[in-house]
Amino acid sequence: MSEKKQQVTRRQFLNYTLTGVGGFMAAGMLIPMLRMAVDPVLQESGAGDMVNVGLSVDDITDEPQRVDWNVEQVDGWHESEVNQTAWVFTDENGDIQAFSPICTHLGCFVSWEGSDDHPNEFFCPCHDGRYYKDGTNVPGTPPLAPLDVYEHEVRDGMLFLGQAKSRGEA
Ligand code: FES
Repeated sequence: MSEKKQQVTRRQFLNYTLTGVGGFMAAGMLIPMLRMAVDPVLQESGAGDMVNVGLSVDDITDEPQRVDWNVEQVDGWHESEVNQTAWVFTDENGDIQAFSPICTHLGCFVSWEGSDDHPNEFFCPCHDGRYYKDGTNVPGTPPLAPLDVYEHEVRDGMLFLGQAKSRGEA
């Protein structure tokens, strides 16, 4: 029985070498491109972060005041600044309350004492929606749910707000 030597020809050697080097270079180019394409989707959004809204707790009274601030929003590959608003006050127990101004009926902007006919209430001008000072909807008016409530923290005497959540989640 004759032993066959397996010899690699010069052509085969070049083919193997060029295929290996080409594959290595292609992977080197494709991996960063794939990472760039997929990375923003995998990154955690900063949506849950608490933001300093620039209001000292010493300036919070039992009269709801409008507080505006901006947050950076990353939506996939698009970054933008989003305006946020809250109605902030202290309740009868001295606890800080921060309500979303978004009407739970169809999303219009709710104002504190927005109607002369309904003092001491939040009012939505779109369909005369009304909310008591504690944010609960007035029965018989269009909104069927209370105003959402912002998560809040106090750090170094300043108010930080997070996400607005419905009463069930808050
Ligand atoms: S959107 Fe506020 S009452 Fe309809």
